[in-house]
Amino acid sequence: MDDESTFSIMKNPIHNKHIVLGVCGGIAAYKSVELLRLLQKQGAQVRVIMTQNAKWFVGPLTFEALTGQPVCTSLFEKGDDAPIRHIAWAEQADAVIIAPATANIIGKLAGGIADDALSTFLLAVKCPVMLCPSMNTHMYESKAVERNLSLLKADGYFIIEPGAGKLACGTIGPGRLPEPEEILDRMVSCLSRRDLAGKKMLVTAGPTREDIDPVRFISNPSTGKMGFSIARAAEHRGAKVVLITGPTNLPDLCNVTMVRIRTSEEMADAVFQHMEKSDIIIKAAAVSDYRPREPAKQKIKKEKDEMVLLLQKNQDILKELGRRKKDRILVGFAAETENLKKNALKKLSEKNLDMIVGNLVGDSASGFGSDTNKVTLFFRDGMVESLDAMDKDSVSHVILDRLIERILPMKTE
Ligand SMILES: Cc1cc2nc3c(=O)[nH]c(=O)nc-3n(C[C@H](O)[C@H](O)[C@H](O)COP(=O)(O)O)c2cc1C
Repeated sequence: MDDESTFSIMKNPIHNKHIVLGVCGGIAAYKSVELLRLLQKQGAQVRVIMTQNAKWFVGPLTFEALTGQPVCTSLFEKGDDAPIRHIAWAEQADAVIIAPATANIIGKLAGGIADDALSTFLLAVKCPVMLCPSMNTHMYESKAVERNLSLLKADGYFIIEPGAGKLACGTIGPGRLPEPEEILDRMVSCLSRRDLAGKKMLVTAGPTREDIDPVRFISNPSTGKMGFSIARAAEHRGAKVVLITGPTNLPDLCNVTMVRIRTSEEMADAVFQHMEKSDIIIKAAAVSDYRPREPAKQKIKKEKDEMVLLLQKNQDILKELGRRKKDRILVGFAAETENLKKNALKKLSEKNLDMIVGNLVGDSASGFGSDTNKVTLFFRDGMVESLDAMDKDSVSHVILDRLIERILPMKTE
């Protein structure tokens, strides 16, 4: 294994964890197969316990084939792995996910009932347990389910709110099992170090678009991946995050306040509106330096052989943040095509930053749209740290590590 993948795995709190997936008799049981695959992709060791009723919806063989392990479906069946299987699995588990969690298992757990393999196992576990309720809207909104869920919340169970929409039964409302990706994301958050708990963070991402006419604009190839990755990592580590992003194809992040903007002027408005409430600001967006001075009201016709587009300088948002920052932490990005160190250090000092993350665009391992990045971190006190090429999630965690280890202590001195 090379250094990069070792690093990436170190930062993934699910890798090598023993996770028990509990599957109940709900219509969404088919989604738990996909969830199992996602957990395995993250390096988790997954074992499955199914209720007898879950077997009506999805076969144990599917889970058995995918995990390569026996699936526990009965308290009294003999397993080869342990004489009292539900107790052994409970002792070995690092985390438990119940998806889908039926009204029935929720009621049984809230009442301390242990009448089958899954409910008995659940009373024996000591690790974090995440419940993903999924049922008909009227069932979900019933007094009994509401009461049981609030009891379980108070008992320390992690409850994932179901999604709303048209359910399989035809009802419209809450009750849908969240997508497996979202459940995985919440599990990562649940198992992450919460070393940014209590911090309010503002992150920017993506490109901006500056209109030339109603059908054309000036932009850049930023995909927003780096900023989204930082926002996600910070949320996992406990920060309350606002993400202001230009147009991207990336979906909203769980538990992050999303602000979607288009132009550099909208970006500036949103940033200044949210900066006051932030302790840490990380500007990973690729904001356009110029915009057409007078965008045409109608589509420009192809008539002349040449045309001149007059550009107007945009407000330097980072510089203005640097001027207003007070004791906030401010981190910028510098994507350069040459003289990385010189340009990054100039930006660091001119914009009053605490750290700048520099990368050379054009390097095969870094830059716009790439899943990896090769960056150098420049700090206010002159320290420089060049990182190996690594995936953007790992870069995000190093940036957050350095904030916590090097910059936050200086602010609280
Ligand atoms: C077609 C069908 C779909 C069902 N879907 C759900 C569901 O999505 N959520 C739920 O709580 N119960 C659902 N039920 C009811 C449960 O299967 C029933 O309450 C059962 O006792 C749950 O057992 P378990 O929790 O041990 O798996 C459904 C029942 C049927 C027949």
